[in-house]
Amino acid sequence: MSTNSSATLPAILGGEPLFAEKIPMVRPVLPAFEEMSEGIRRILESGMVTKGPLMRQFEQEIAEHLGVKHAIAVSSCTSGMMLVHKALGLEGEVILPSFTFMATASAAVWAGLRPVFADVDRQTNNLDAVAAEAAITPRTVAIVAVHQFGNPADIEGLQRVAARHGLKLIFDAAHGFGARYQGEPVGRQGDAQIFSLSPTKLLITGEGGIVATNDDELAERIRMGREYGNDGNYDSAFPGLNARMPEFNALLGLHSLKRLEAAARHRNETVALFQELLGRLPGIHFQKVRPGDRHSYRELSLMIDPQAFGLNRDEIALALAAENIDTRKYYYPPIHRQTAYRQYYDGRPLPNTDWLSENSLSLPMWSNMSEEVARKICRAFERLYENARRVREKLNSQ
Ligand SMILES: Cc1ncc(COP(=O)(O)O)c(C=O)c1O
Repeated sequence: MSTNSSATLPAILGGEPLFAEKIPMVRPVLPAFEEMSEGIRRILESGMVTKGPLMRQFEQEIAEHLGVKHAIAVSSCTSGMMLVHKALGLEGEVILPSFTFMATASAAVWAGLRPVFADVDRQTNNLDAVAAEAAITPRTVAIVAVHQFGNPADIEGLQRVAARHGLKLIFDAAHGFGARYQGEPVGRQGDAQIFSLSPTKLLITGEGGIVATNDDELAERIRMGREYGNDGNYDSAFPGLNARMPEFNALLGLHSLKRLEAAARHRNETVALFQELLGRLPGIHFQKVRPGDRHSYRELSLMIDPQAFGLNRDEIALALAAENIDTRKYYYPPIHRQTAYRQYYDGRPLPNTDWLSENSLSLPMWSNMSEEVARKICRAFERLYENARRVREKLNSQ
């Protein structure tokens, strides 16, 4: 029932904001200084501050966690993807989604590849295997799929397409730590999967990435590639990068890894509460997760049907800002409409990409978000739904 008391009135209509202080998108869960201090002292005393024993230990623990032969620590997911494309010797076209973060495309373009954008599935937000297959030309050399926001990709469908056409299959697993594909951590499938370890993720090294692969030769070339392409004799095998991981980052990663499973569980429990509370409101939809898979919920992205809810994504974002709730419009604009990349767009219709770009909204999500914060964010949506017509009028009059 709609009433006008200040408790039920959205802040944008003059009600009291639900939060006195801003609720940020990201609040990284980090170890206490005392937990890290001994390790930091040892690094400093050893004099070895980059690419040392802690990085090797981190790589080993990650390889065990993922169940892959090789986990190679690099400076970021972006540099890891650039190196994978180069190390595989790819030249030509690569099929990738446009509904993704810009780094999926920038790494490919930096490696000299031409991106061809294929549509995503509207419900999962992931690259559609049928659309990917339809985008294949004689110049196609690889497919780069994304576990979007942490929702495992259609790995089987994409594996079938890649095998049928002799293509490399690479996963941008930036959001992948904490995600499980049919019960196992994502990371083992395809030719390589590349993870991000930046502070918005469940597993954090500050900045950093992991290239996971079961291919011995590729692993060797990635190790060389993160050292300029130099295998030690100063005769570069291919143009590499400086993409090493410093010891301080590896130390943070080792501590963060201990918290990964708890982080993934907490996020899944918190999202279940969001689903219960927001699922009652018309027009709010969540990414569909395949039975047997686990989302990492690195990002909680909602799809909003403006007709059913009574307000569109942009109106909701403004009204939530008045409640002191931060949001992001991931991914708007989609890559094929961005200044740097629209030159590559071949004009094929991408209806789901365009729809998601206009109607998706990411909410704050942390590995330690309290139930109270989650409930209050949901309450903000209820207040908006109950007062949708007046909120729209107010925004139109501004
Ligand atoms: C889908 C996706 N790919 C790649 C990246 C780049 O990761 P990094 O910042 O580690 O280079 C991000 C960043 O969050 C991302 O969201």
